[in-house]
Amino acid sequence: MIPCALLLGLILLPAAAFAQEQGGDGQGGAAGRGELLFNIGGCTSCHTKKGGDPLAGGDPLKTPFGTFYAPNITQDPEHGLGTWSEADFVRAMQEGVSPDGEPYYPAFPYTSYTHMTADDLGALWGYLKTVPASAEPSKPHELGFPFNIRLGLWPWRWVFFAPGRIEPDPAHDAAWNRGQYLVLGPGHCAQCHSPRNFAGAIEEDRLLAGAQKGPDGKPVPNLTQAEKGLKGWTVDDLDTLLSLGMTPDGDFVGGEMAKVVDNSTGKLPDDDRKAIVGYLLSLPPR
Ligand code: HEC
Ligand code: HEC
Repeated sequence: MIPCALLLGLILLPAAAFAQEQGGDGQGGAAGRGELLFNIGGCTSCHTKKGGDPLAGGDPLKTPFGTFYAPNITQDPEHGLGTWSEADFVRAMQEGVSPDGEPYYPAFPYTSYTHMTADDLGALWGYLKTVPASAEPSKPHELGFPFNIRLGLWPWRWVFFAPGRIEPDPAHDAAWNRGQYLVLGPGHCAQCHSPRNFAGAIEEDRLLAGAQKGPDGKPVPNLTQAEKGLKGWTVDDLDTLLSLGMTPDGDFVGGEMAKVVDNSTGKLPDDDRKAIVGYLLSLPPR
């Protein structure tokens, strides 16, 4: 009997170690963590065009300020990030500044990614390096005057950009804090689900309170416990929406949110999706 149990243990142990290495639980190892952050970060949604090479540049992103094209972020040395260091990448994501010191347009949601830790960004960088390089040139943005002048972004940033990490809130447990991090940091849910002011900046006091006009011109729902928000939604309702895209009335979300479900929330491990659900359902009405 004893040798038999030992044998079983010998077979099971390496299998468990293997699952860990593969990030089978979603947390194990930097590689698994990098992929998880890549998924919830939704990089594919903007940086890959329909039928194009992965991350070699995106479809047009129409905004009130003009049309943006998310660039090639593969490892191609000429058209992508092939010459970047990890520090260049962390700076771009946390500070919204290129390796040459030029400011990025906030159509690249670094105002959310700034909340990500350097450690997580290192894991994400490691994952990006595994995506095959593509020599597809990035498309220039189509912006009218004065928005085509990059330097004009400096004053905008002084007023509206607060770089920095999110401090865990000791009044809440680890799962809630994980949910807050995923929603406000990599998940950048507030970018679409919040109203914006005249200058296109998120209205911080109405964070996640919905928007009249989202990226595709349609309204984006309120995610707080407001009457028109997620009031009355159960944990299961919200978990089903984020994993399958199905609303409590049996409809399916469309457009921009369908991409979020396909590329991001639908690929999360259960405990991370549950953390997002718990955090959102705790938000006071706004
Ligand atoms: C909502 C659309 C959107 C999403 C989502 C998005 N990006 Fe981007 N990204 C852009 C746009 C637009 C630019 C160009 C900004 C500019 O020209 O100032 C950009 C630029 C960048 C750059 C700078 C590239 C360069 O050549 O200087 C990096 C790096 C980058 N994104 C990485 C990422 C990563 C990693 C993710 C996922 C975690 C991501 N982006 C998600 C829209 C997006
Ligand atoms: C690119 C824009 C965009 C991003 C990013 C985004 N959403 Fe959405 N979301 C939408 C739109 C648009 C809808 C409405 C879809 C519809 O009704 O077909 C929506 C719908 C929803 C709904 C359904 C609410 C209701 O009342 O029906 C939930 C819940 C939701 N999103 C959660 C999230 C979470 C959590 C994140 C971050 C992980 C997120 N969204 C990121 C655009 C976005």
